[in-house]
Amino acid sequence: MLLSFLRKNLRLTGTKYGCGGGGCGACTVMVSRYDPQTKNINHWSVNACLLPVCQLHGAAVTTVEGIGSTKTKLHPVQERIAKAHGSQCGFCTPGMVMSMYTLLRNNPQPTMEDVTEGLAGNLCRCTGYRPIVDGYRTFCEGQPELFSKGDLLPLDPTQDLIFPPELMRLAEVKDQTTQRFCGERMTWISPGSLNELLQLKADYPQAPLVMGNTNIGLDMKFKGIFHPVIISPTQVPELFKVTQKPEGVCVGAGCSMSFLKSVLERSINDFPPESTHMFRALLQQIKLVGGQQIRNVAVSTLGGNIASAYPNSDLTPILAAGRCTLVALSKDGRRRVPIDKDFFLGFAKTVLKPDEIVLSVFIPASRPNEIVHAFRHAPRKESALATVNAGMRVWFNENSNVVKEISIYYGGVGATILSADRACQQIVGRYRVNLCCHIKLGPSAPGGKVDFRRSLTLSLFFKFNLVSGSAIWSFYTGKIMCVLCVQNVLEGQSAQDPVGRPMMHRTALSQATGEAVYCDDLPQTDGELFLVIVTSSRPHAKITHIDFSEALKLPGVVDVITAKDIPGKRFRTFTGYDEELLAEDEVTCVGQMVCAVVADSKAHAKRGAAAVKISYEDLQDRIFTVEEAIEKESFFLPRRQIERGDVEKGLREAEQVYEGEIRIGGQEHFYLETQSFLVIPIGEEKEMKVYLSTQHPAFTQEAVAETLGIPSNRVSCHVKRLGGAFGGKVTKTAILASITAVAASNLASIRGEDMLITGGRHPVWGIYKVGFMKDGRITAADFQYYANAGNVVDESVLVAEKILLHLDNAYNIPNLRGRSAACKTNLPSNTAFRGFGVPQCMLVVESMIDDVALKLGRLPEEVSIREINMYKEVSLTHYKMEFDPENLVRCWNECMKKADFRQRRQGIDLFNQQNQFKKRGIAIVPIKYGIGFAEAFLNQAAALVHIYKDGSVLVSHGGTEMGQGIHTKVQQVASRELNIPTSLIHISETSTQCVPNTCPSAASFGTDANGMAVKDACQILYNRLEPIRKKNPKGTWQNWIITAFLQKISLSATGYYRGHDLDMDWEKQEGKPYAYFTYAVGCSEVELDCLTGEYRTLRTDIVVDIGRSINPSIDIGQIEGAFMQGLGLYTMEELKFSPSGVLYTRGPSQYKIPSFCDVPLKFNVYLLAGSSNPHAIYSSKGIGEPTVFLGSSVFFAIKDAVTAARKDAGLTGPFQLNSPATPERACLACATHFTQMVRDESTSGPAQPWALNI
Ligand SMILES: Cc1cc2nc3c(=O)[nH]c(=O)nc-3n(C[C@H](O)[C@H](O)[C@H](O)COP(=O)(O)OP(=O)(O)OC[C@H]3O[C@@H](n4cnc5c(N)ncnc54)[C@H](O)[C@@H]3O)c2cc1C
Ligand code: FES
Ligand code: FES
Repeated sequence: MLLSFLRKNLRLTGTKYGCGGGGCGACTVMVSRYDPQTKNINHWSVNACLLPVCQLHGAAVTTVEGIGSTKTKLHPVQERIAKAHGSQCGFCTPGMVMSMYTLLRNNPQPTMEDVTEGLAGNLCRCTGYRPIVDGYRTFCEGQPELFSKGDLLPLDPTQDLIFPPELMRLAEVKDQTTQRFCGERMTWISPGSLNELLQLKADYPQAPLVMGNTNIGLDMKFKGIFHPVIISPTQVPELFKVTQKPEGVCVGAGCSMSFLKSVLERSINDFPPESTHMFRALLQQIKLVGGQQIRNVAVSTLGGNIASAYPNSDLTPILAAGRCTLVALSKDGRRRVPIDKDFFLGFAKTVLKPDEIVLSVFIPASRPNEIVHAFRHAPRKESALATVNAGMRVWFNENSNVVKEISIYYGGVGATILSADRACQQIVGRYRVNLCCHIKLGPSAPGGKVDFRRSLTLSLFFKFNLVSGSAIWSFYTGKIMCVLCVQNVLEGQSAQDPVGRPMMHRTALSQATGEAVYCDDLPQTDGELFLVIVTSSRPHAKITHIDFSEALKLPGVVDVITAKDIPGKRFRTFTGYDEELLAEDEVTCVGQMVCAVVADSKAHAKRGAAAVKISYEDLQDRIFTVEEAIEKESFFLPRRQIERGDVEKGLREAEQVYEGEIRIGGQEHFYLETQSFLVIPIGEEKEMKVYLSTQHPAFTQEAVAETLGIPSNRVSCHVKRLGGAFGGKVTKTAILASITAVAASNLASIRGEDMLITGGRHPVWGIYKVGFMKDGRITAADFQYYANAGNVVDESVLVAEKILLHLDNAYNIPNLRGRSAACKTNLPSNTAFRGFGVPQCMLVVESMIDDVALKLGRLPEEVSIREINMYKEVSLTHYKMEFDPENLVRCWNECMKKADFRQRRQGIDLFNQQNQFKKRGIAIVPIKYGIGFAEAFLNQAAALVHIYKDGSVLVSHGGTEMGQGIHTKVQQVASRELNIPTSLIHISETSTQCVPNTCPSAASFGTDANGMAVKDACQILYNRLEPIRKKNPKGTWQNWIITAFLQKISLSATGYYRGHDLDMDWEKQEGKPYAYFTYAVGCSEVELDCLTGEYRTLRTDIVVDIGRSINPSIDIGQIEGAFMQGLGLYTMEELKFSPSGVLYTRGPSQYKIPSFCDVPLKFNVYLLAGSSNPHAIYSSKGIGEPTVFLGSSVFFAIKDAVTAARKDAGLTGPFQLNSPATPERACLACATHFTQMVRDESTSGPAQPWALNI
C-alpha cells in the first residue's frame, strides 16, 4: 500500500497509520492526475492505507512534507490549524492538513459546508474538532473573524508544487500498455484495453477487479483473504465513460463516487426538475458514503459497490428501487441486467458470472408523477455504514393519489438488500397507505439491533409517505459556532511572562508539517526485527499445544517467543494479582497474548503469526457479564464500601423511595497512534534502549528490567511524544514493551489488535435506592456498582475505589452508602481511562436525580432537584474531607445564566407541543472532580534543568507529552522562573535516564506535579545566578550564563516536588484522597428525531473553574476534547462482544467515535473568572479528566427529549435509559407506535442474541 511505501521506503513519515482501513483519515495524501482531454489537473484526497502503489502509474502524490515545512516555509493550512490550537497530540493533524489542502487546491474559496464535508473522513480523538473548524473557517468568506488575518500567512497558490510535466507528457501519449507487477506472492495486472481486460477475466475468473480497493483491500488486510492475481482495470477508458440521454444517464463502472456525484449534479441541472427525483435521491446517498477520501477512490455503483453486494451498501437499494440496469460484459458477449432483487443472490453474491465485468450502469430519469427517495440511518451521521437504508419509488396515476407502481428496497436488514414485495403488492391500486412490517429479523441476526432495525423499516417508509406527499421532513442543520471566554493575565504581569497566556502548543507547527516524530517514525535500525503478537481465540481454555513449526518455515520469520523464552519474571503484579505476560498453560479471554512471532518485516511477522497453531481444551466455566460474575461470586478483592449517616433511617424517613438502575457501556481509548515500541540492544553490559509511546516510562523500565532479569539501570525508556493515550498507555504498554524487549524488536500494533489486547473503560452496572421528600430533598441514597474488570485485575480495584469516592458528585446527601465490586470475567481486561471510573459513577447519581425529578413529576432543574441537593457551603464529603463548594455554585449559576436555561426551557416545551416526531431536550449537569492520586507516593515529581553555555536551556521532567500540552505549560513555567523567553527553552523527550522513578502522567495531575518540580529546579538555578546578576544588572542572559560557567557555578539542577500527602483509609472510610476539586457545569440542548433516534446537539455551554489557567487555550482544548470524548461515551461509542466473548468492534468502521458532525452547533466554553487555587502551581487546576462527564449533559438532554415523546405516548414517570443513549436506545425509548408495532410482532425466541450485554 502507498502508506507503507511512503513511510518505510521513502521515509516520509508525516503520513500516519491510524487504522489501516480507510476509517480515520490519518493517512490522507493528495493524488493528482492530468486529464489530457480536459487539460485539467485533478486532485483528490485519498487514504494512503488503502491505495495500492501499483495503481499510481501516471499520478503525482503529495504528502504533508511536500506542502510546507518549518525549515522552509509553512503552508497556511499547516499554520492555521496550529495557531487555532487544532493540534494536540498531533497524530491526526497531517491527515487534516492534507484533506484541507486538497480542498483548497480544488476550490480556493470554499464554503463552511465544503470544509466540513472535506474533513468528514478525518477523526481526531483529542481536540473535540471545534478549533480545527475555527482554524479552517479563516479560508471561507463571510465567516466570523476569530483571528486577525494579518497574523496568518495568506493562501498563495504560487507556493504549491507544480504537477510534474513529465506526467503530463505521459498522459498525452496515452501509452496504455499492460502493466504487470510481480511481488513475493502476488501478481498485479493492469490491462491496457477493454479486450485485454475481458481476456484476463476469462483467464483468471477468480481474480478480483481492484478499483478503489476499499472492499477487496479490507478483505485482504483484515480477513486474511489472499488473491494470487489481481486485475486493476483503471486504464480501461470504457469504464469511465459517461453519456447522457433524455431517458437518463449512463455512467461507467469505474467512476469514483466523487465523480458520480458531479455527474448527478450536472444532470440535475440539465434535466427538467420533475425528472430528477432519482438523481437527487442517489446524490443524497452518495454524499454520505464514507468520507471524502473513500468517495474519491471507491468506484461507483457499477463496479465495486454493486459487485461487492454487501447488505448495507447505500447505493444498491436506491439503484434497485430506481429501475437502474447495468451492462455486464465478458468475452462471450454483453447483457443488460436489471439491478433488482433477482440480481442480488445473497451476502456478497450477485448473478454476475465469474468472467463478467460491470461495464456501466444506466440511471433512468424519473417519469411524470414518479417520486423517488433514499433514506439512511447510521450510528453516526457521516462516515459510517448505514444501520438500515432504503430506496423507495412510487408512481402515481396521473392527477391522482392512486399508486400505479411502487418499489421499496431496504439495506441492512438481511444478507443482501431486501425488496418489500408483499407490502408493495398490497399498496398498488390504493391511496397512500401505511406499511406493516414484513421484514423479519431473527433474535440473533448479525449486527443485532433487531427491534430497532425493524422499526426503522417502518419509520423510513412513514417518512417516505410524508415526503412523497410533499410534506417537509427536515432535521436541524447549521454551522458550528462558538464563544470562548478566556482569562486576562494579572495586572502588572510582565509582557515576556507567558504564564496565563494562550500560547500555542510548542510543537503544533511540526505536528502540522509532519516533522514531529512519533515512536513508529524513528529511522529503521540495522537488522531491525518486527514482532506480531498471537492471541487466544478462546475465552477460557487450557493450552494443550503451541505448534509454530509452520511459522518458522516461512520466509523472513526468525523466531517465535513463548512464555518459556522470558529470561526473567514472566508476570507483572498489580494490586496483589499476577498478570502473565504471555499465557503459558491457560487462557482466560479472547485476545490474551500467547506468543509472538519475530520476523524481518511486519508482513512476514504477520504471515508467521497466522501460521501459528494453538490447540486448546475448552473450560466450561466462562463468565462474561456482571450478572454471571455476581452469581458465581467472581470478584477481584478487596471489595470496598463507604457509608455516612444512617441510610436505613434516611430511607425510612423519606416520603418516597425509588429503586432504579442504569448500565454504562465501556469505551475504547481510540488514541490515534496505536501502541508502538522499538527496543534496541546496545550490545554491551545488557543495556537496552526502549523507545515507546507510554504515559509511564518508569513503570515500563521496571517491567522490561524484570522481564529480562537485569537491573533497571541497564534499561532506558525514551518517550518523545504520544499520539494520544487517555489512560490506555500505562499498564498494558509495559506488558507489550516487555514482550518486545524479549525479542529486542519493533512492535507497532495494528488497530484491531490494539483494540482487542489493550482493554478500555470499565462497563458499570449501577443500582440504587433513593429516599426523598416531596420538595425534592434527598434524604438517603444507597448505591451498588459492578464494574466489568475482565480477566486480570490491572487497575480495576483502584477504579472501583475511585467510583466510591465520587459517588456523591455535587450533592450533599446526608445518608449515603456505596458498595463497589470489580467483577472478574473472561473478557479482555479493562484498564485506566480518562476519569478512572468517575464518568461511570457520576452518571449513576445523575440518573438517580433524574428519576427523583420524574417521580415527582418535575423537571430536574425546576427550582431544581439538582440545585436543592447541591453542596452549598463549606462541607465534608462522605469520606470526611472538608471543601468549599463556592465555585461549584458559581459555575452552576453562571452556566444557567449563560445558557439562558429557563427561557430556552420554555421554548423547548413549546417546540415539543408543536412537533410529534421531533422533540427537543435540554439538561444541565454539575461536576466536582477530585485532583491527585489517593496513593500519596504517586504525587511526587522530579525535573532536571540544564543551562548550556550559549544560554539555551534543556528541561527534562517526568511528565509525558500526549497532546495535553504539558511540555508547553512546563516551558511557560521555566520561562517565568528563569525570566527568559520560551524560545530559549527546549524539551526534548521524557527519559528515565534524565529523570528517574517518575510517576504516570495521569489523574489530571501532570502539570501540577512536574510543573512544581521544574519550578523548583529553575528557582535553584536562578538563585545561583543571583550574585552574577547583581554584579551586572544590565547584562544579558547569555552574559550571565557564560560568566557563571567561568566562575565554576553549576548550570544544572534537579528539582523535586514531594506532592500532597494524600491518603484514604478504607477501614475507617475516611481520608483526604484529593488535593482539591475542579468544578464545572455543562448544559446541552438536542433535537431528536423520534422516528430514527438520530439527534443533533444544538448547543452546549460549559463553565469551568480551573483556578488561574497557566495556558487557557490548552486548557480549553482539554475541556472541549474531554467533553467530546464524554459525548462519545454517553451517546455513541459501543463495544460489542459476541456470545463467546469475541470483540466485534475492532476498528473505526465498527466502533464510532465522535466526528466533525457531532460537534454542538453552538459550543461555548467559559472559564470561571476570579478563581484561584492555593493547592497547585500558580493557582491553576488540573483539567485533563473532569469535563469528560459534561458529555452526559447531551445524554440527559436526549433523555429529556425522549421524556417528551413518551408523554405523547401516554407514558410518564422514571424509565431506564442505558448509556450510551444510541439512536437505537433513544428511538425504542420514545415508544412511538412504530416501535410498539415491531415489539408486538417481535419474534423473541430462544435464540442467542448476536451480542452480549456485558
Ligand atoms: C471506510 C469506508 C467507509 C465506507 N462507507 C460506505 C458507506 O457509507 N456506504 C456504502 O455504500 N459503502 C461504503 N463503503 C464501501 C465502499 O463504498 C465500497 O467498498 C466501494 O464502493 C467498493 O468499490 P471499490 O472500487 O473500492 O471496490 P474494490 O474493493 O476495488 O472491489 C470490490 C469488489 O468489486 C468487484 N468489482 C469492482 N469493479 C468491478 C466491475 N467493474 N465489474 C465487476 N466487478 C467489479 C471486485 O472484483 C471486488 O470483488 C465504505 C468503505 C470504506 C473502506
Ligand atoms: S490509516 Fe488510513 S484511514 Fe486510518
Ligand atoms: S490531535 Fe487529533 S488525534 Fe490527537
